[in-house]
Amino acid sequence: MRVLSGIQPTGRPHWGNYFGAISQYIALQDNEQAFYFIADLHALTTIRDAAQLRQNSINAALDLLALGLDPARATLFIQSDIPEVTELTWLLMTVTQMHLLEKCHAYKDKKEKGLPADAGLFTYPVLMAADIILYDSQVVPVGVDQVQHVEVTRDIAQRFNQIYSSEVFVIPEYRVLEATAKVVGLDGEKMSKSYGNTVEVFEEPKKLRKKLMSIKTDSKGVEEPKDPETCSIFTLYKLFASQADQEALAARYRAGGMGYGEAKQALYEKADAFFAPARERREKLAADLPYVEEVLAAGARKARARARDVLDRAKAACGASTRR
Ligand code: ADP
Ligand code: TRP
Repeated sequence: MRVLSGIQPTGRPHWGNYFGAISQYIALQDNEQAFYFIADLHALTTIRDAAQLRQNSINAALDLLALGLDPARATLFIQSDIPEVTELTWLLMTVTQMHLLEKCHAYKDKKEKGLPADAGLFTYPVLMAADIILYDSQVVPVGVDQVQHVEVTRDIAQRFNQIYSSEVFVIPEYRVLEATAKVVGLDGEKMSKSYGNTVEVFEEPKKLRKKLMSIKTDSKGVEEPKDPETCSIFTLYKLFASQADQEALAARYRAGGMGYGEAKQALYEKADAFFAPARERREKLAADLPYVEEVLAAGARKARARARDVLDRAKAACGASTRR
């Protein structure tokens, strides 16, 4: 099965990004043919600083490699290393109905707020469709907020196939991790960069502890029994702890005699132990950037070979020249 997903290089990954999206990519590399890329062309809709974008893209590669993406099993590349993707975007644009894009949330939200939006944001889902279609992808693991875009991709691919009476494009399917579709942040709302309530995957231990100690709770005293199911600390603890550890902590909540500070400490210890190996790997990788460059160059070569093939099929189907 051919798996593909992309990640925007917009900053340091937080627990929501990891449990909602990245962990799924890593899990799927084990028995699939996986393609993962850093969506720097998409990030151009928000980042307008060349040095920052370049740095973010390398950082995103470091993050993924440190978190377990294995270049021996999966192909990792940078979106803009494959020029075929923008070429396919145009072909797809010619069969994309305006109403499909008008309902897509990134553009719609901006427009509703009266904010100016550019054509890049409006056509963002078509570039994403090209990302997916260009490699004959069958399965696209994503966070829930990206499901709409994969549905648009299916519509576009089907319409192209229909117009040109061909089966030139594979129709992809999305896959989401329901259990971790909405990781809560420090304030109990959905964890998101835009809410300032995030906990970063690669946070160093002291800062991590300080952040976790700031989680909002109710004002129940130490002796009072507490409800684990309505507590953000416990909700986050579940991401890291075994079933037995979850039950043990839940029992202590219900029994009373445990303050929230103690629960926060338990969460801190689990989270720190969980991400410590990745943190170490990331430090080592950051000290060996030529290796990371090599991985990205090899990934681009492999991805490009498949991209050329699919693009040629698409061009032939609609009558564009495939001369080299
Ligand atoms: P943010 O909301 O912090 O800007 P992004 O929009 O960059 O995050 O999200 C990147 C990926 O991480 C998306 O696939 C998204 O679904 C996933 N994701 C982000 N926040 C969460 C969360 N709190 N819980 C689960 N998944 C999340
Ligand atoms: N739009 C996705 C996000 O913001 C990133 C992305 C770009 C992507 N192209 C993709 C994800 C193709 C899956 C498949 O998270």
